Amino acid sequence: MALPFDDRGLAYGDGLFETVLVRDGQPLLWEYHMARLRQGVERLSLPLPDFEAFDRLPAQCGPGLRVLKLMVTRGSGGRGYRPPGSAELRWRWTASAFQPASRRWFEGVDVRCCELRLGIQPRLAGIKHLARLENVLARQEWQDDAIAEGLLCDSEGHLVEATAMNLIWYRQGRFETPLLDRCGVKGTLLSAMNDDIELHWVRAGLETLHQADAVWLLNSVQGVWPIRRLDDASGKCLQRWPPAFDSPLQQMAHGRLGYPLNPDD
Ligand SMILES: Cc1ncc(COP(=O)(O)O)c(C=O)c1O
Repeated sequence: MALPFDDRGLAYGDGLFETVLVRDGQPLLWEYHMARLRQGVERLSLPLPDFEAFDRLPAQCGPGLRVLKLMVTRGSGGRGYRPPGSAELRWRWTASAFQPASRRWFEGVDVRCCELRLGIQPRLAGIKHLARLENVLARQEWQDDAIAEGLLCDSEGHLVEATAMNLIWYRQGRFETPLLDRCGVKGTLLSAMNDDIELHWVRAGLETLHQADAVWLLNSVQGVWPIRRLDDASGKCLQRWPPAFDSPLQQMAHGRLGYPLNPDD
């Protein structure tokens, strides 16, 4: 159903969203999605949504593999940016049929560095709010379909994530991932991996990847993609890795999502 013209989510990005993988009515990583939504509700001081109504959505998504998109906004009202004293939350959802880019799990992907730098804003860091213009600008930087994703650094040059995925690498015998305390989205699959394997959260620049034995991108819908080639923003190759699909990281993540563990499955 359409949103009214004065909806604050539409006007200001004043709201949150989640995209959830659902298989035959069963959501994957549901607790993690609801935990991130709850954290977003607190950060934005939104009224408490009806989480029980959300729990009933996956079963209504239909058979097969689906992506459930749930959007929550502060609704209408207030004066300009000033929110209404007692907002009435508005929410919408859709479910679409979905096929993951399965070749990328095992062949790996080519990725580039984006020119765009993410602004540092700790109060919005981690949550999946609706104001995603930085991601839109970054994704506009390339049109070549051979490039699967773009890496994003913050305005001080620290690695953060990709335009719609998180980033993990293996270096000096440990799995590392960028700290997401100042910007970026804390992915639900990343949070699950933090529970499943020992992850080290680090403040690191792009040069750290030179020391990495393997690098992966991940999200809760596509699973884990090994990076095989990294280009700079002009398309010059910076680095190559053998695609590392036989890692405990991909095994754990794909176990969580019900995706294959090796190319023959
Ligand atoms: C900017 C950004 N970072 C990270 C993620 C990964 O989040 P999740 O694992 O919950 O899908 C997403 C998901 O779309 C995203 O848009």
